[in-house]
Amino acid sequence: MNILPIVQRGAPILNQVAQTVENIKAEEIQQLIRALKITMKNANGVGIAAPQVGKSLRIFLMCSAPSERYPNAPLLPLTVVINPKITATNNQQALGWEGCLSVKDKRALVPRYTDISVNYFDELGQEYQQNLSGFVARIFQHELDHLDGITFIERLNNESDAISEQQWLEQTANV
Ligand code: NI
Repeated sequence: MNILPIVQRGAPILNQVAQTVENIKAEEIQQLIRALKITMKNANGVGIAAPQVGKSLRIFLMCSAPSERYPNAPLLPLTVVINPKITATNNQQALGWEGCLSVKDKRALVPRYTDISVNYFDELGQEYQQNLSGFVARIFQHELDHLDGITFIERLNNESDAISEQQWLEQTANV
């Protein structure tokens, strides 16, 4: 299984609403999930959505651990999320730093709900209902946005909330 190329912002697929997955156990879906795992790991991402590798399907992966790209990330085992929905939020948003494998060289302070209730299926077709908070809730919202054709750049309150990766590294090095 090969690492897939990651589509960059400006490509039309990143602004499309992705299709619901009808048959999770289909071989092409299982293959896509395996390829997403390898591609996310290779890119040191904490999440990746199918449209980012050119597949307009409602699938994303989350996997978080402290890394060079996200030094303060919590530990979250690899989670495959299919046909996700946010069923409730606490209506309270907070700003937090985000990057994106499809928006190279940018970081931004993005407003997200701090607590959400979600519903999704995993790669075996098992259904989950969970309450997520903090950074994990942030990843979920970021990745779900990819399935709805939205990148974090469209979520900013102000353009000045985006800075270059280099500026961001210098800021975090000084903390
Ligand atoms: Ni992204």
